[in-house]
Amino acid sequence: MRHLHVERCAAAREWSSGFRPAPRGPIGRTALDFIPVRVVVTGGAGFIGSHIVDALVARGDEVAVIDDMSGGREENVNPGATLHRLDIVDPAAADLIRSFKPAAVFHEAAQMSVARSVREPIFDAKVNVLGGLNVVEAAADAGARFVFASTGGAMYGDVDILPTPETCRPWPVSPYGVAKLALEHYLHSFHVQGRIDYISLRYANVYGPRQNPHGEAGVVAIFALAMLEGRTPVINGDGRQTRDYIDVSDVVAANLAALDSKEREGVFNIGTGRQADVLTVFDVLRRSLGSKAEAEHGPARPEQRTSALDSTLAAEKLGWSARVDLETGLAATATWFRDHR
Ligand SMILES: NC(=O)c1ccc[n+]([C@@H]2O[C@H](COP(=O)([O-])OP(=O)(O)OC[C@H]3O[C@@H](n4cnc5c(N)ncnc54)[C@H](O)[C@@H]3O)[C@@H](O)[C@H]2O)c1
Repeated sequence: MRHLHVERCAAAREWSSGFRPAPRGPIGRTALDFIPVRVVVTGGAGFIGSHIVDALVARGDEVAVIDDMSGGREENVNPGATLHRLDIVDPAAADLIRSFKPAAVFHEAAQMSVARSVREPIFDAKVNVLGGLNVVEAAADAGARFVFASTGGAMYGDVDILPTPETCRPWPVSPYGVAKLALEHYLHSFHVQGRIDYISLRYANVYGPRQNPHGEAGVVAIFALAMLEGRTPVINGDGRQTRDYIDVSDVVAANLAALDSKEREGVFNIGTGRQADVLTVFDVLRRSLGSKAEAEHGPARPEQRTSALDSTLAAEKLGWSARVDLETGLAATATWFRDHR
C-alpha cells in the first residue's frame, strides 16, 4: 500500500507540475534539489494562509487558493496565485483539488473562533470536520502531501507541564479544539490506509501583519488598532493570563519545513516555548507605537490561564525553531498596522 502511494505521489507531481520530480522522491525538497510544484492553500486569503501563499509564490510554486472569503480579503491574495471562491464544504472545492492535482495542500481554512464553536458547535463541526475531511479526501485522491493548521493552545487546555510537549494528552475543552483533534485523527487514519502523508502543525498564538483586528481573538491586532485609533484597549480580567505568541513569519517557515521534510507523518507544536502575559503584550505595543493609552480591565473570561508549547520535536524532525523574539515581532506588527490601517 505504502509503495503504491509513493509511486502515485511521484506520478501526480510530475504530471501536475510539468517539472521532473526530484531524484530522491516526491517529498523532502532541499535548496539543492528545489523544483517548483503545484500547491493548494485553503484559507489563502486569510491572515496566516496569505503569508504562506506569498512564500510559495516567491519560491516559484504554482499556487491555487481556495477561500470562501468569509474572513479573508482579496487584497491579501498574492497576484501570483489564483483565487477560487469556494466553501471547503462544497464538493466543488474537492473537485478543484482533484483536477488541479497539487503536490501539496496547506489546509488553513477554518471556522477559527473558539467562542463561536461554543455557541454553534454544529456549524463549527460542519466547516472544521466535514469541510476539512472534504479537503483531506480530495488531497488523498490527488496524491498530495497534506500540511494542516492545527492548534496548540486549544488542544491541551490548562496543564501542569509548561512548555507543553506533544506527549501531553490532547484534551480539548472547546468544540473548536475537538474538531482540530478530530481532523488529526482522520489524517492518521488516512495515512495508515496508505492514502496520504501529512504533517499537522499545532500553532501557538500567531500574530503579525494582516491579522483581523476586529475579531474576538488576536489580542495583538486588537490592541494595536485600538491604540492607533485612540480608543481604550480592554484587557479581560487581570491580564496575567499567558500565551505563547509566535510571529507569522516563523509559522510560514514551519509550513515550508513541513512541505520539504521527509517525514511521512507527524504532529508538531509550533511555538516559542515562552509565555508572555497580556499586560506584557500591551506594554510592548504601547512602547512600539509611542502610545500613551491606558488599558481598562473588563470582566475575566472563562479561558485558559496559561499556555506555552514545547517545539523540541519540530526542531529535531523538521529542523525548525522560532527565530523572532516577541519585542521585535510586536514592534514590526505595530508598525505594519500603523502603515496599513
Ligand atoms: N491565528 C492563530 O493564532 C491560530 C492559532 C492556531 C491555529 N490557527 C489556525 O490557523 C488557520 C488560519 O487562521 P488565521 O488566523 O489565518 O484565520 P483567518 O480567519 O485569517 O483565515 C482563515 C481563512 O479561511 C477562510 N474560510 C473560513 N471558512 C471557510 C470555508 N468554509 N471555506 C473556505 N474558506 C473558509 C476565511 O475566509 C479566511 O480567509 C486556521 O485553521 C486556524 O484555526 C490559527
